[in-house]
Amino acid sequence: MATAPVVTVDGPGGAGKGTIARAVARRLGWHFLDSGAIYRLLALASLRSRTAADDLAALDAQARALDIAFPTHGANADEVMLDGDTVTAAIREEACGERASVLAALPIVRAALLERQRAFRGPPGLVADGRDMGTVVFPDAEVKVFLTASVEERARRRHKQLMEQGVSANLAGLLEELRARDERDMNRPVAPLKPAEDAITIDSTGMAIDAVINRVLALVHERCGTTGAE
Ligand code: DC
Repeated sequence: MATAPVVTVDGPGGAGKGTIARAVARRLGWHFLDSGAIYRLLALASLRSRTAADDLAALDAQARALDIAFPTHGANADEVMLDGDTVTAAIREEACGERASVLAALPIVRAALLERQRAFRGPPGLVADGRDMGTVVFPDAEVKVFLTASVEERARRRHKQLMEQGVSANLAGLLEELRARDERDMNRPVAPLKPAEDAITIDSTGMAIDAVINRVLALVHERCGTTGAE
């Protein structure tokens, strides 16, 4: 069975994965999967329904039933929707990120979301952004990138991004939260954050966004022989 090519972009929070992966997908004309948004959507759904973070049966059911849609065109283009509501900003709030990190450490939640993530693979190709895209979800991906940056740089970027979205944030607090989240994401027993053995690590500290995008596109060209839609 022929399968569509996949580029995975994994790494810690705030390394610029979203920006890079989205831009690469756009340049190639490929599908895009923001797997973190799925964990955040589940986090928001569980907060809204007041489901406890240790009610595994309820979380499993919620994950399987979750309405996962990321419209790419139409009135809600680029918005994240939950039960018909636009939740693009709500899922980016720190409370939601915190809950997402807790839920992401639960094997039952990861198992419930696995096939749903794989369903995003389709022609002409997929760019998938997350923590375990290259290690667990798409182990046969053609190109695997592990994108990192120093924790200080990641906190500064997240701070800037939140301010631009009109969300108030405190830099020192963000730094602490990122450190705690890194710790949890890297040390959880299931799908810990680590580079796949065949991943290429790119440290984006001090690198311009375009330079990172071009590096990834060059890898895609090398491995998949495509320069994309543009
Ligand atoms: O990338 P992000 O900040 O939107 O991700 C939110 C949380 O979900 C974060 O704590 C890591 C987790 N996550 C994960 O465990 N696996 C993924 N593939 C994507 C995100």
